[in-house]
Amino acid sequence: MDNTPVQMPADVSEHVITIPSPLIKKKKQPMPKKHLKDRWKKFLSQDKEGNLLVEGLSVKDLDAKFGAPLYILVERELRERLRTFKNAFPYPHFRPQFACKVNSNISIIKIAKEEGFDLDASSVGEIILGLLADYEPQQITFTNLYKTYQDIAFAAMIGVQAITTDSLEELQKIALVGKNLDLKIRIFLRINPLIKMGNYSTLKQQYGIPLHQARKAVEYATSDPHIELVGLHFHGSYIVNPQVYCVAANRLLKLAAYATELGAHIRYLDLGGGFPTHDNSHPEYGKSYNLQKAGSFIVKSLHRLLQKYNLPEPTLIFEPGKYIVSNAMIGLVKVVSCKKMGSENIVIANGSVYNMIPDRFVSNCRYEILPASKLNKPLIKKYTVFGSTCDCIDVMTRNLWLPKIEEGDLLTIMDCGAYSIVFTSNFNSLKRVPVILVKQDGSAKLIRRRDRYAEMFAPELDVLKVADPNELKYFYNLHRINFEKIWGEHLTPEIREKKLQKPLQAILSHIYRDKQNTEQTV
Ligand SMILES: Cc1ncc(COP(=O)(O)O)c(C=O)c1O
Repeated sequence: MDNTPVQMPADVSEHVITIPSPLIKKKKQPMPKKHLKDRWKKFLSQDKEGNLLVEGLSVKDLDAKFGAPLYILVERELRERLRTFKNAFPYPHFRPQFACKVNSNISIIKIAKEEGFDLDASSVGEIILGLLADYEPQQITFTNLYKTYQDIAFAAMIGVQAITTDSLEELQKIALVGKNLDLKIRIFLRINPLIKMGNYSTLKQQYGIPLHQARKAVEYATSDPHIELVGLHFHGSYIVNPQVYCVAANRLLKLAAYATELGAHIRYLDLGGGFPTHDNSHPEYGKSYNLQKAGSFIVKSLHRLLQKYNLPEPTLIFEPGKYIVSNAMIGLVKVVSCKKMGSENIVIANGSVYNMIPDRFVSNCRYEILPASKLNKPLIKKYTVFGSTCDCIDVMTRNLWLPKIEEGDLLTIMDCGAYSIVFTSNFNSLKRVPVILVKQDGSAKLIRRRDRYAEMFAPELDVLKVADPNELKYFYNLHRINFEKIWGEHLTPEIREKKLQKPLQAILSHIYRDKQNTEQTV
């Protein structure tokens, strides 16, 4: 069989990137009230035709340049959220951390660092991302439910700020790693303070050392020569009542007083994340939340508690996630098909719940969707918006009032910065979508490119290659064909669609011939 690489037809291989005209800020007009929420007012407007503008850039232009489906990250909103959070706690030793599990894009992590945040990492992968984004190891804490010996050794050897210990068993593991490495490993103890206040409860949470075992953990940590207990930690999600943080602080500081008696120097009090933002699954959550008021309230209460337990001021840590990034990201999808099924008006978008907003499945989140290329038009029909995968539960939203929707229209999925891209998958072998950072001056840059077929299939093709190079013949010699090139990864979406029709035909018939040859030879 013929093993020579596929020759690309001239008109495909000759296409180098055509630099499209730079994106130009459009003249802004206010959006109709029915579409505009207060939290978007700073960065959203529209042009006179009714196309949505993000920081003055038209979503139509973003689609032409980068290709929907994509995410748009609004840098100004991200930075303002980080600054607002940082300034909300009038406490002299305040070190907020960005909980990057919420959105681990490296540019976002880096912006958080630029704004003075440390990093809450929940895995070795996230620690590495932090290092790549230029955090010093001492700016990173490693907090999760379970760590292997290797995880602990890695974090200890690079010298993270602390490893947050989730159980008595993990404490013993850390002691053993410390002994083997001849290190004194800095730890926080994660405590479940067993709070029950109204609807809020941590009683059933799987995280942390339950309060009734906490003294035992402190005794162990303060007596082991390879452990240095430097902080206490609590994290609770979806905390609307700031009093919860104060109750947690009370229980943790009482424990800190005990640890101090046993000779520990508790330098950090880490009260986790959980701050409300506008949230899609609970429309009321975060609506009237006043972060400044909550911040002052918590700090005042903290001062009282420090006096009560006669403790020096520790460094106060919070680890916000969704508060920081949720409202700063917008999903852009294009309508690829419209149909009517009985009385239901159906719109199919070219993104999917799987590759853009899977927390609709995980926690039943609802997203607001705007008719981004028809903001001027009256809302006349109720639609169901489906994603494009072959799964009947791939429903972006139901009963959405929209103008008459046609193929090619653009829709935006609002407030999708948190727990979205980090949950996404390649279901249906669809590529996960790129992220474009939009700046206040109207410039835009790619901060995550679209997936490539080569990397999507590599985990399987790699093992076949390693096991036996001939194995690949059974898979029609995929390794010889540069699908990225055929697909036109390097071309802008517009050019790809216009120019590749004919060459694609030629390539596909070549692959098909190749496949038949392979079948005969293996
Ligand atoms: C330990 C820890 N800190 C911080 C966060 C961020 O929480 P949120 O997004 O509610 O602020 C999480 C989220 O799960 C977490 O597990």
